[in-house]
Amino acid sequence: MDKNVIAIDGASGTGKSTISKLLAKNLDLNYIDTGAIYRSVALKVKKENISLDNEEKLKTLCENIPLKFVFIDGKNHVFLEKEDVSEKIRTQEISMLASKVSSLKVVRDALIDIQHRLAKETIKRASILDGRDIGTVIFPNADLKIFLTASDSIRAKRRYEELKEKGINANFNTVLKETIERDKNDSQRLLAPLKKADDSIEINTDKMNIEEVFFKIKSLIKEKINLC
Ligand code: DC
Repeated sequence: MDKNVIAIDGASGTGKSTISKLLAKNLDLNYIDTGAIYRSVALKVKKENISLDNEEKLKTLCENIPLKFVFIDGKNHVFLEKEDVSEKIRTQEISMLASKVSSLKVVRDALIDIQHRLAKETIKRASILDGRDIGTVIFPNADLKIFLTASDSIRAKRRYEELKEKGINANFNTVLKETIERDKNDSQRLLAPLKKADDSIEINTDKMNIEEVFFKIKSLIKEKINLC
């Protein structure tokens, strides 16, 4: 049976991963955090000291990335081989490197198959993928496409709070600067830039809390795919 696909795209801090995880848990769907794939590539690039000019090595790395998503106690963990890298891929350094790595054609091309496979090879009824180009490039025929937006300051504030909660000391202005810089990279790159698909439904989350966004998308899933 063909699996339904729900694409949730947006910049960092728009709430897409929080919402996608909630929806996946609540509706018992397969969740794929595509940002974690680019972050894992970035971590490997750093560990193995691979030059971003070395296309051959990058291609081999992406095509063979030993990546696994595992649910442990209701939480999505990312494994590279046997190592749980869920925390290591979330540092500011890896965020910036993931943004750089994701602008390379060799990387994006090599990761298309993995994303298709992860979405289709599931025992669940449908997959939710969050990212930047899911509705435009990876699954242009997705059953439902959502594009989340929020202002720079709100997105930086969310990121800052997240870091504080994890006990990471951060400066708000630095977080704001890096948020803007990363989104500039992601939306101005030539390949698969962060962009709303024409048939995507845009939701601005500035004045909405998590529950409100959750119920809004849940009702859209019900209306469009009849999964709820
Ligand atoms: O969603 P995130 O912040 O974890 O993503 C990390 C980086 O990966 C982000 O800067 C852009 C890139 N990315 C991408 O180019 N395409 C995706 N589908 C997901 C992430």
